[in-house]
Amino acid sequence: NHAIPIITIDGPSASGKGTVAYLAAQKLGFHYLDSGALYRLVALRALQDNIDASDEMQLAEIAGKINFSFENSLVWLDGQNVDSAIRAESCGEFASRIAHFPALRAALLQRQRDFCRLPGLVTDGRDMGSVVFPDAALKIYLTASVEERANRRYKQLKEKGINASMPNLLQMLRERDQRDSDRALSPLKQHIDAQLLDTSSLSIDEAVKQVLDSYAAAELHARARTNPVK
Ligand code: CDP
Ligand code: CDP
Repeated sequence: NHAIPIITIDGPSASGKGTVAYLAAQKLGFHYLDSGALYRLVALRALQDNIDASDEMQLAEIAGKINFSFENSLVWLDGQNVDSAIRAESCGEFASRIAHFPALRAALLQRQRDFCRLPGLVTDGRDMGSVVFPDAALKIYLTASVEERANRRYKQLKEKGINASMPNLLQMLRERDQRDSDRALSPLKQHIDAQLLDTSSLSIDEAVKQVLDSYAAAELHARARTNPVK
C-alpha cells in the first residue's frame, strides 16, 4: 500500500473539502472517496428502516452490509440513485449523531481502505489522515470561518432552489462542529501531521492549487529521502 499515493483532506462541514478533494483528484487522475457519503448512506438506510440512533449493533450491521457504489458522480444504494437523498441536511445531521459509535466506524474502516488503488487516491472526511490512511503522502486540514461556511452552504442551497436562513445555518454548523469535535473516537481536529489550509478568503481554484503545490513538495521531499544526493 505504501506505493500508492494518498492525499487526505479533513475538516469541518461546508468548508469546501469535498469540492477541493474532488477537483484535486481530477487534476491528478486519482480516485476520489467522499467518506462522509458512507456515513450518510448508513444514516439514510437507518432512517428508511426506522432504526434508532442509539442502536449501535444494528447500525454497525448496516455499515458492514450496505450495497453502494459511486458511479457517474452519483451515489447509489442497492442500484437506486440516492445522491440528493443523502445530501439532505436531515441525513447529514443523523450521520453525525451516529458517527461516534466504535462498531459503526470499525465496520466502515476496511470499506474505506478498499478505495486505495493505483494510481492514487484523494479522500475527504474527518479522520482520513488520522485513522483511515495514517501513511498518506499528504494530509490537509481544510477549514474556513463558520460565517464563511454558512455563506457557502447558503449559496449551495439557493442553487438547489432551497431558501435557508443564515441564523439557522450558523446554529446548525456550530452544533455539528461541536458534536464532531467532542466525540472520543475520531474527533474532528487538525491531526499533528496535517497542514492547515484556511480557505476563508480563497477561491476554489486557489485552494485546489495549494493542495497540488503541497503535494508536489511532499513528493519531492519523499524522493529526496529515498534517493539522497551523494
Ligand atoms: O459535507 P459535510 O462536511 O457537512 O458532511 P460529511 O462529510 O458528508 O459528513 C457527515 C457526517 O458524517 C459528519 O458530520 C461526521 O459526523 C461523519 N463523518 C465522520 O465521522 N467521519 C468521516 N470520515 C466523514 C464523516
Ligand atoms: O465537503 P464540504 O461539506 O466541506 O463542502 P463542499 O460541499 O465541498 O463545499 C460547500 C460549498 O462551498 C460548495 O458550493 C463549494 O462550491 C463552495 N466553496 C467555495 O465557495 N469556496 C471555496 N474555496 C470552496 C468551496
